[in-house]
Amino acid sequence: MTLDTTVGARHLARYGQEWWRSAVIYQVYPRSFADANGDGMGDLPGITSRLGSLAALGIDAVWLSPFMRSPQKDAGYDVSDYCDVDPLFGTLADFDDMLTRAHELGLRVLVDLVPNHTSDQHRWFQAALASEEGSPERAFYHFKDGRGASGDLPPNNWVSMFGGPAWTRTTNPDGTPGQWYCHLFDSSQPDLNWENPKVEEAFEAILRFWLDRGVDGFRVDQPHAMGKAEGLPDHPDVERAGAGFIEGEASPPMWFQDSVHPIFRKWRKILDSYPGERAMCGEAYVLPLSFMALWVRPDEFHQTFNFRFLDSEWKPEILFNSINESFEAFDGVGAPSTWVLSNHDIIRHATRMGGVQGRPTASDGIGPNDPQPDRELGLRRARAATLFVLGLPGSTYLYQGEELGLPEHTTLADEFRQDPTFYRTSGKRVGRDGCRVPLPWESGLGAANGFNRTGQAWLPQPEIYAEYARDRQEGVAGSTLELYKHGLATRRRLGLGEGSFDWAPEFVSENSLGYRNGDILVVHNFGHEPIALPAGEISASSLHGMTSGHDLVADQTVWLRIS
Ligand code: NOJ
Repeated sequence: MTLDTTVGARHLARYGQEWWRSAVIYQVYPRSFADANGDGMGDLPGITSRLGSLAALGIDAVWLSPFMRSPQKDAGYDVSDYCDVDPLFGTLADFDDMLTRAHELGLRVLVDLVPNHTSDQHRWFQAALASEEGSPERAFYHFKDGRGASGDLPPNNWVSMFGGPAWTRTTNPDGTPGQWYCHLFDSSQPDLNWENPKVEEAFEAILRFWLDRGVDGFRVDQPHAMGKAEGLPDHPDVERAGAGFIEGEASPPMWFQDSVHPIFRKWRKILDSYPGERAMCGEAYVLPLSFMALWVRPDEFHQTFNFRFLDSEWKPEILFNSINESFEAFDGVGAPSTWVLSNHDIIRHATRMGGVQGRPTASDGIGPNDPQPDRELGLRRARAATLFVLGLPGSTYLYQGEELGLPEHTTLADEFRQDPTFYRTSGKRVGRDGCRVPLPWESGLGAANGFNRTGQAWLPQPEIYAEYARDRQEGVAGSTLELYKHGLATRRRLGLGEGSFDWAPEFVSENSLGYRNGDILVVHNFGHEPIALPAGEISASSLHGMTSGHDLVADQTVWLRIS
């Protein structure tokens, strides 16, 4: 295999000084971060009480998954009131306290905005159900008559991302079957109609509500789903693509429609009208990256999640191409690339890298009946992967618990599962609960290792989580937590996030990848044989105890300062 580094990416130091171009942003999943009131569900006071540990980790910002009012049918991604806190998580006053504390600690805060769909319990949807066909209330959503003589077939062939049809039929007040409504996710998450200017107006007010409270920006859920092709035509390739799309082929009618871009331009203007570099990151699953780059043009989103990189198998050729594509696409529009290895929708990377990479999609999760990963190998590779990523210029997202090397819960019993994917596929896809289990803070403190004081947990931890608890790692040389702290501190000190990128051709092969960021050489060994390194000072190593003059062993990453 020859990887041609002469046509590979080159990235010059960042174009602007804004914080989001190089920030390390830590995803807090509020249900599972820390639980102050002991009811088994994480909450805002819990987050506030532990923010000090995040500041000490060395991150720049936190992104909070949704904590707004919600029936929790999709763990909060089904919002019934965008301007209030769900009582499960606390109150608006608790949110303000959390935000104040984060700002005192120098951390910025992004909140999750879910504009593609609401909860079916949202007053807009309840009003739509209670109103006539063709009414202004129904125009907030996509209501349509069914097909077939009696309208008992769904209006089109779309399928839900969570399995099953993307349409549910309503019942009229007199008990007769009514129109159908569209939901690209669960039936409890009806899609909003973004052709309706009233929806746009409502969301502009929601943006302002949170900006006025002082948030530093938003992570925007499924922005590429908001526009729908006129008339909601059939998906041209549902047999092959299912709910999704096939890259490079005809654009499906429910993903990345051009009509959405003016919306984000308006949002950008709103953010820009506030002081303090407010920013928004779009969860725009749009590939290839040359397409995604359109979403981060200078007057749209500040960042998008780099799904090409996230979906890349941990193999040199695949990563080489994905990094090249990333710099090429994002540099082309002057936006930073983001680098992500884990989040609340996919198998944790410490587990993915332990041998389950061949699974069809990482979001399918792993259940007790699946082949079980190799924990030790997974952790070793995950640590190396993280260090490889932290050396890259741009912005990086971390998912809570990865700094502990936390593996997925791969043996969760069915009775505990909550992800709608599990229920909508009758258990064929176990879903995403395994990466959402509450964090272990203090080993042996209650059944949930310090997640709270009562030991209750909305998802039970596996026994092994005690080994990963933060207190077992704090100050312990060689622990994953200390590796993250050291990597983040070094990245900051050396300005790697703002830095440059060039491949180091001598380390680009079928067994290794190497790149330079300023005078730091980052090399990872994918093979089995040791690799000789040039002389230099070791700035960081994924294996503890590495000293100068030693070879790079299998599954290891090193940062070498070459003068
Ligand atoms: C993406 C979110 O990350 C995921 O958790 C959620 O289920 C879907 N969007 C629907 O909101």
